[in-house]
Amino acid sequence: MKLLLNVLKRIHKPAVYSSQPRCRSSSARSGLLPLRDEALIVGSNPELVQRLGPQVEAIHGYRETERVMWGERCEEVLSRVRSGAFPEGSPLLGPVHILDLDKTGYIKPHIDSVKFCGSTIAGLSLLSDSIMRLVKEDDAEEWLDLLLPRFSLYILRDQARYNFTHQILKDEESVFNGQRVPRLRRISVICRNLPG
Ligand code: OGA
Ligand code: MN
Repeated sequence: MKLLLNVLKRIHKPAVYSSQPRCRSSSARSGLLPLRDEALIVGSNPELVQRLGPQVEAIHGYRETERVMWGERCEEVLSRVRSGAFPEGSPLLGPVHILDLDKTGYIKPHIDSVKFCGSTIAGLSLLSDSIMRLVKEDDAEEWLDLLLPRFSLYILRDQARYNFTHQILKDEESVFNGQRVPRLRRISVICRNLPG
């Protein structure tokens, strides 16, 4: 548990909520009450709950680990990912991050910490198709949905990495361009480079 919290603290800079939903209202579409997450946290004053609450939880229904040593076949795949995703010679974060989302799990909007992660994030999606939503940090009207079929690789670079939050939609919200994309248990294998 400690490891999980440490890893989370290092990697995640969750997006700050406002009482306005950040993106096309997920609460409206899922029928969940708005601010449902905040209701799970109490604090000395409402402003603090609003401001700090989102920073203590970014992922729901998951387990995760980091791995440095891989078997030969995995190493081959990872080298292909690395050579395709990162600028040549770019120093990489040693451990690869593995995130296992339960069928009910999801990742809330966040931007990976600039302290620990550089300009590029590359992730392989395994077991399930999923949708990654990017929302411009300072303008929720600007968004992109990415369909991530299982076995696919996504790469977030530069503006997409620094100026847009990313999130993995929960099953009940998983609709791509009008088409339902069932979200099952999903494992992602994520490589990052180091800050410059
Ligand atoms: C993360 C993240 C995306 C994924 O762990 O910071 O955004 O593909 N993961 O699992
Ligand atoms: Mn992330």
